[in-house]
Amino acid sequence: MSSIVCHPILNTQNGIATDAKIKKQRPPPLVVSRPRDLIQEACEKLVISDQHLRRIMQLMEKSMEQGLATATKGVAVKMLPTYVDSVPNGTEKGDFLALDLGGTNFRVLHIKLEGKETKMTGKIFRVPESIMRGTGEALFDHIADCMAKFMEENNLKDGTKLPLGFTFSFPCQQDGLTKGKLVTWTKGFKASGVEGADVVTLLREACQRRNDIDIDVVALLNDTVGTLMACAFQENTCQIGVIVGTGTNACYMERLDRIPKMAGYVDEHGVTPEEMIINTEWGAFGDDGTLDFLRTPWDDAVDRESINPGQHLYEKMISGMYMGEVARVVLEDLARQGLLFGGHCDAISVPHCFPTKFVSEIDSDLLEDDDRTFQKTYQILEDIGVETVSANDCANVAYVCSLVSTRAAHLTAAGIAMLLNRMNKKHVTVGVDGSVYRFHPTYPKLLDEKIDELIVGDIEYQLMLSEDGSGRGAALVAAVATRLKEEKLAALGKK
Ligand code: BGC
Repeated sequence: MSSIVCHPILNTQNGIATDAKIKKQRPPPLVVSRPRDLIQEACEKLVISDQHLRRIMQLMEKSMEQGLATATKGVAVKMLPTYVDSVPNGTEKGDFLALDLGGTNFRVLHIKLEGKETKMTGKIFRVPESIMRGTGEALFDHIADCMAKFMEENNLKDGTKLPLGFTFSFPCQQDGLTKGKLVTWTKGFKASGVEGADVVTLLREACQRRNDIDIDVVALLNDTVGTLMACAFQENTCQIGVIVGTGTNACYMERLDRIPKMAGYVDEHGVTPEEMIINTEWGAFGDDGTLDFLRTPWDDAVDRESINPGQHLYEKMISGMYMGEVARVVLEDLARQGLLFGGHCDAISVPHCFPTKFVSEIDSDLLEDDDRTFQKTYQILEDIGVETVSANDCANVAYVCSLVSTRAAHLTAAGIAMLLNRMNKKHVTVGVDGSVYRFHPTYPKLLDEKIDELIVGDIEYQLMLSEDGSGRGAALVAAVATRLKEEKLAALGKK
């Protein structure tokens, strides 16, 4: 085992680590020691230069254009039409049900829209791993069961059937607002028999099997679309919706004349809309090898051990399901090289022992802890069973965490800046949601600063935290669909 000379006093070097700069989440103070130099050297590949970010933007736009051109399976970035072509105009009202499936929790909500006011009652149900990875039938039976319980408890079972918005946060190939085939599971789901099937039909069939609830699905939507709609309800310049949570994805308003695969499209009333929200499914960017030039052996390791190797590679460099694991494999590697924890690597080698919330907590230590005592960092390392932890170890672990989270923010910034440049509209609000965006201490700031550097021309934008896009957004999509249907029917009646 190699021995490490640790210097308990943290010095600064090269002017990189002033306190003010730490607040901006620059790499933490450099420790004057050989291991730190070696750690810096080993971790260099986690830092993405602006030049590389601009290259990513070009490559991503090219991938997106391929996705807009063809509906074939071969393209990495699917660019899925959502059949949502209008944002709320603020007059939406009525009573709706919303279902929200996209992670380890499933929610059922009863939403009342009244002008700018929204009243929500809801219940959260867990989706056990056995159900996530069991049969599709069991998954949809579970959903129907939770719905029935909620409807019973809230006296919604009898009486008028409420219009239902179903937020299903996985890639779906839709061919209408109420139909969508699951392209592929992501985020740890693997229920059999669902890929390739219409999820609305599966939901209806599950309700029919139990015979005590009747539903009226008026909209199937992705969580990014819900986020965009929920923000647009408050701020009508919202044209992009982004999620950085367990998974990552974005949707945006695209001109129909730039979607070759929709050429000749007319809606059920014979109208060709000018624009439509496209669910990019950018998480799969890089699945065709495009990102190989900056993926690291650590990214490969995380991908290899995941439930869907080779898929959603951009997501695996960014989102909450993977960020902690990326940091962990880097730390394991450094410990194996004798650069951390006195070379002890057993504890840090346990897969998934270092969830993304640890990255957030350790990054908070950097931000808030002026004396750099790294209390939380010590605690976390102790809790996961790392045997010998020095002050230098803590500084170095924090350094690695900040590199991993900064890389995630910069990669996301490249995606958003690319969309803003492509849309080239004077002022755009970007609705954002997800646990990484909400809970990581510096991610929002890092994201915002980098977007600002990467956009061109005189575009103005603002990031807006979405208020429960998956729930309220589902009701809004359902409400807009209902309103437009009524307006179009009324117009046809008058003709
Ligand atoms: C899914 C997207 C979803 C995103 C955020 C990704 O894994 O493919 O459909 O929008 O996670 O929840």
